[in-house]
Formats: sequence, structure tokens, C-alpha cells
Amino acid sequence: MSDKRILIVDDDEAILGSLSALMDLVFEEYSSLTAESAKEAMKILAEKDISLIISDFLMPEMDGIQFLIKAKETYPDIPRILLTGYADKENAIKAINNAGIYYYLEKPWDNEELKLIVKNALEKRDLITELEKKLKELGEAQEALIQSEKMSAIGKVTSMIMHDIKTPLTIIRGTAEVLDNDSIKDNKDLYIERIIRAADKISNMIGEILSFSRGNWEIQINKASVDSKSFQQDLIRPLEELSERYSVEFSSDINFDGYIKIDIEKITRVMNNLFSNGIESGGDPPKIDIKVYNSGKNLIIEFKDNGTGIPKEILDSIFTPFFTHGKMKGIGLGLAICNEIVSRHNGTIKAGNLETGGAIFTITLPMEG
Ligand SMILES: Nc1ncnc2c1ncn2[C@@H]1O[C@H](COP(=O)(O)OP(=O)(O)OP(=O)(O)O)[C@@H](O)[C@H]1O
Ligand SMILES: [Mg+2]
Repeated sequence: MSDKRILIVDDDEAILGSLSALMDLVFEEYSSLTAESAKEAMKILAEKDISLIISDFLMPEMDGIQFLIKAKETYPDIPRILLTGYADKENAIKAINNAGIYYYLEKPWDNEELKLIVKNALEKRDLITELEKKLKELGEAQEALIQSEKMSAIGKVTSMIMHDIKTPLTIIRGTAEVLDNDSIKDNKDLYIERIIRAADKISNMIGEILSFSRGNWEIQINKASVDSKSFQQDLIRPLEELSERYSVEFSSDINFDGYIKIDIEKITRVMNNLFSNGIESGGDPPKIDIKVYNSGKNLIIEFKDNGTGIPKEILDSIFTPFFTHGKMKGIGLGLAICNEIVSRHNGTIKAGNLETGGAIFTITLPMEG
């Protein structure tokens, strides 16, 4: 027995017989089911998958229109064909809109016409079923894609954060080593404070991963107003400390008017990444020079080193995640992180080379955030 079925509803047994014989003959893929009343038809509809309904108009208890309206409510996708006697034609036409009928045919019907109408209705129904199947598959594929994008977003952010945790960890380790030295007595509090600050940074970064996995897919930027003095204190001072540790010749000129709205922790991560690249760039000893100044409504940060410079052919690729060149242990995330953070501040970061050798990174940040 086929699992595709045509339901024929008529209170006249003879009509049921001839119609179902015709359907079985013409539409071999389908089997026909018959019902002598609307009630019986509703029962069949509830139990079996039906592809098409052909119903008589005049039936006792519930007429064809009422039945088809009811069928439409519960099974809107099944096409419905109504058979009417000539005398019922007016009523049938009036009711057609309510029942959303695919076609109505007058009795006695012409077999050829009926075959054609049924064929078209079944084809339409098949097309719709196929379309629904495809839509469902598409929806599932889309869901899978969203899921995997979420996963790769988490992966991306996790690796960015793991990458940047290295710097505060280095600070903690370095400072703890200094503290271990007995001769450091006076500045103990300062060193302990430094360790606490670095530990807090790590803890914030871990918080970021957690917030990402809870569905905040973007790096959260929490801006605060920073003036020249606190820029020096919060962003430059830690780099001076790192420079001492790595024997870097460090110089800076921080001079701007007013306040800039930035997320200090995030911009610290930008500075740390540029710093790491700077000292890995081949200068011996490495030199880093930072200049910060106003230009119109923007703050400009220039970050220069005395390394080999950036080869021309890679200049366009260096901000791409996981692009690394000429380094044994490069992951290729440092500049991608810088780019992400600076863009989230509505700013830009550009790379170039100095005539004197070495690279220059220029960051432009709107003062107003
Ligand atoms: N100051 C610089 N001087 C010369 N080349 C640089 C400089 N900064 C970056 N580059 C080049 O750009 C590439 C990408 O830098 P990026 O910081 O994104 O990754 P990485 O330093 O290789 O690895 P990671 O920072 O993840 O440990 C580097 O591999 C290097 O070739
Ligand atoms: Mg790097």
C-alpha cells in the first residue's frame, strides 16, 4: 500500500466507488480512502497522512463546505476539491473563500477534467512538501552554522585572551622574583601592588572568556576618561617597567590636551602587543619610542622601534588573525587583537616603516570615544 493517499468524501456509495476506482487507476502512486460522512473523514485525517481531499457538497450532518473549512483549520496544506450539484453552485461559490478550496467541480463531472485537476493539485502539494523539506534542511544547516560560528567566536576570543595573559603573568613572575630579594625592603608595597594589579588583569580576562561563552560575542569596551597624566601612569609606566626587565631603551613623549575616552585595560593590551613585537623585531639593543599627541578631534599614538622593519609584501596581511612571519614561536594574534580593540574604539591602526629602519605603528583614536 502506498503511503500517499487521496481522501474521497461522499454520502453516496456509488459515487465513492467510481471515484476511488478512477483515482486508483490513474494515480498509481496513491491509494484512495473513502468516507461516507464528514465525521468519518475527520477521523481518517487524524489518523493518516493525506495528500488531497475530494469532497461532495451535500451531505447530511455536516455539509462539504463546513467539512472543508474544518479540515483547512487543522490541515491547511492539504489541497481540497469540492464536488457540487448544479443547484448548489451559488452557495458553493460563496463559501469557496472560507474553505480555501483548490477547485470546485460540478456534478456530473468530466473524468478528463477531474484527472487534470487532481494531477495539478497533487503536483502542487508535492512541490510544497518538497519545499518545506528543503526549508527545514536549510534551517537546520543555518542553525549548525550559527552554532559553529559561535564556537569559532569563542575559540577566537579565548585564544586572543590566552595570548594576552602572558604579559601580566610575566609581570607577576618578574615582580615576585624581585620581592624575593632581601635588599628590597622600602618598595615592598609597590611591588605587591604591582602583582595584585596584574592578577586582577588576568582575572578580568578570564571573566571576558566566560562572558563570551554566555553569548556576548563582542569584546566589551568599558570606556573611562583619561588625561595625559593618567595615560602616562597607567599605560606608559608599565611599559617602562617591562623595558627595565628586558633591557629595552625606552623613550616616550606623552602630551595631549583634555581627556580621551578609552578602555584602559584594552588599550594596555594593544600597547603590550606592540611592545612585544617591537622587542622581537631585531633591534640590538631594542629601542622603543612612543609619542602621543592630539590632532584635531583625535588622539594619535605613534609606536616606533629600531628593528628590521616590516617586509613590504606582508604589510597587508599582518593584522589578519594567525598571520605570523619570520618568528619561531609567533602565533600571529598580537596585531589582530590590536586591530580588534582599536576598531571597537572607532579608531584605526596602521603599520609602516621608518626611513631610518624599524617599524612604526600609528593608532588614531577619537577623543570622544
Ligand atoms: N614591529 C615589527 N617589526 C617587524 N615586523 C613586525 C612588527 N610587528 C609585527 N611584525 C610582523 O607581523 C607579524 C604579525 O604580528 P603579530 O603580532 O600579529 O603576530 P606574531 O608576533 O607573529 O605572533 P604573536 O604576537 O601572536 O605571538 C609578525 O610575525 C611579524 O612578521
Ligand atoms: Mg606579536
